[in-house]
Amino acid sequence: VQREMSSLPRVYITRQIPPEGLKILSESGQVQFDLWDSDDVPVPRKELLQKVKGVDALVCVLTEKIDAELLDAAGPNLKVLSTMSVGFDHLSLEELKKRGIRVGYTPDVLTDSVAELTVALLLTTSRRLIEATHEAKSGGWGTWRTLWLCGYELANSTVGILGLGRIGVAIAERLKPFKVKKFIYTDVAPRPELASLIDAEYVSMDELASQSDFLTVCCALTPETKDICNKDLFSKMKNTSIFINTSRGGVVDQEDLYEALSSGQIAGAGLDVTVPEPLPTSHPLFTLNNCVILPHIASASYSTRNAMSALAANNLLLGLKGQTNHLKH
Ligand code: DGY
Repeated sequence: VQREMSSLPRVYITRQIPPEGLKILSESGQVQFDLWDSDDVPVPRKELLQKVKGVDALVCVLTEKIDAELLDAAGPNLKVLSTMSVGFDHLSLEELKKRGIRVGYTPDVLTDSVAELTVALLLTTSRRLIEATHEAKSGGWGTWRTLWLCGYELANSTVGILGLGRIGVAIAERLKPFKVKKFIYTDVAPRPELASLIDAEYVSMDELASQSDFLTVCCALTPETKDICNKDLFSKMKNTSIFINTSRGGVVDQEDLYEALSSGQIAGAGLDVTVPEPLPTSHPLFTLNNCVILPHIASASYSTRNAMSALAANNLLLGLKGQTNHLKH
């Protein structure tokens, strides 16, 4: 960690990010930086508000709320915010724009990792793998039974994608070899270029709900998508269908999801994201056998997290030079 005082632009990093990014910043010779030297706990808000005072640039992760309070605490030197995430719902884009702050994020580098995990979560949920290992270990494994632990298969199924972007396409590409019959998607408008890559048909939200055997959520969390997966949607889904969310917890009304899962309105759900995170262990969703919950690990491979760290560092350096690989806001 460089802590010497110099005339180089000052950067604060809100988390001990993976080594690639730190190496890029150190070796650039273009910045001096300080960081919250832990990966296990986020920087306390009070400390963060102190640390950002007067900095030229900030690297953050998705646990930090970048809002008016924080930007005011940072002051007018702040030119660049670089988040080590593809999601940007923790950023007040309006406040950043008002202050002319450039915003970098990390699309593309995590697409493969997130798509891979989404497929794993989908199969884990639909083939009831968590229940199955539990039964095997805990003495529930009696004789071979004809309908015991049966689930739903991808072959001949219709897979629905809510919000078609890079990640949705990558998920579909991976699912196709499982002999999926049809891909459908919905979004604010048709996205023919992306859809043609996976031969997906544009449908309404209602059609997505009623036709999907597997419905996977791949949209960003915005005011428009908040709670978009609610009882309206679940009530139109088949009772044999599986719901998967690896985007953001906020797109789901969790009470409605609990209701849909516990009443048998839908067959199962796999969630990598929840509200809040971590989801309290006492949360009712944890009581359901047909709900698989992961602790937000979709991009958690060593190579991807290092690539995200490197991209966040490079975005920051580019941003300080006034160049762009940046989120439009
Ligand atoms: C993101 O990048 O937004 C993910 O949620 C964490 O990789």
